[in-house]
Amino acid sequence: MTTAEHLDLLDERRARHPLAVKGLSKSYGEGSTAVRVLEDLDVRVEPNEIVCIVGPSGVGKTTLLRCLAGLLAPTTGAVMFGPTTMTGPILEVGVVFQDYSRSLLPWMRTRENVSFPLQGKGMRKAARRALADQCLNAVGLPDAGRKYPWQLSGGMQQRAAIARALAYQSEVLLMDEPFASVDAQTRFDLEDLVLHLRKRLGISVVVVTHDIDEAVYLADRVVVLSGHPAHVVDVVEVPFGQDRDQIQTKAEPAFTEARARILGRIRR
Ligand SMILES: Nc1ncnc2c1ncn2[C@@H]1O[C@H](COP(=O)(O)OP(=O)(O)OP(=O)(O)O)[C@@H](O)[C@H]1O
Ligand SMILES: [Mg+2]
Repeated sequence: MTTAEHLDLLDERRARHPLAVKGLSKSYGEGSTAVRVLEDLDVRVEPNEIVCIVGPSGVGKTTLLRCLAGLLAPTTGAVMFGPTTMTGPILEVGVVFQDYSRSLLPWMRTRENVSFPLQGKGMRKAARRALADQCLNAVGLPDAGRKYPWQLSGGMQQRAAIARALAYQSEVLLMDEPFASVDAQTRFDLEDLVLHLRKRLGISVVVVTHDIDEAVYLADRVVVLSGHPAHVVDVVEVPFGQDRDQIQTKAEPAFTEARARILGRIRR
């Protein structure tokens, strides 16, 4: 494949399939000590949609995300990517974890961190490099490829982790509290990056977050989990479309309404 074809690969990526859990229940442990965390969840992420998952600490958000990623097997129910039942992680569904300091390998330069997973796909070295650089460009890190992860700021490392998921050709990005460890301004920039990537690449995104403002700012729909075991207690549609602005969007009456409704649901 030529570099030009890789350009197309990144530019014309479109999520083609919904990612969904159907009747999902998840327990940890077995027999009399088993603890049911999730009970009969139905959550569907449409192609090119951003869905945020919120709920109190310990409710089961990470558990749901790990099920969506194919990293945890459901106790009952199924995880579906399009028509296919997922039985493990797949290339099309990538995960960005919160702890960027552990997710990038410190002995590899950032470009190699991004291109490393592509080795298994039989891509030539020059092509891997080209695609890694494309992905680093796409996340606003055109000059970071030759640096080691520990030479980057926290926000830059998180961008690099996103670039790596993109290089892996994910159509769906799953993010667990992705911006919890960065300062407020960096957090806003990363939120805007997610909105930009969704629009430019046509990918779908699932974000688990504690931050209700962040959820409403990013999401087309916010899924609210509550209870032990957790159920979906509300799904809030957010009417702002793909183009959003940190100041204007957050000043909209619909923003305040969505936020109040979600807070009420979580507190109840
Ligand atoms: N591997 C495990 N074995 C047993 N119990 C677990 C395991 N992982 C999570 N749990 C329990 O499942 C419940 C849900 O955990 P989970 O990490 O999914 O919550 P969360 O909503 O992501 O919380 P937080 O907001 O604090 O990240 C918690 O009670 C937790 O103690
Ligand atoms: Mg969690």
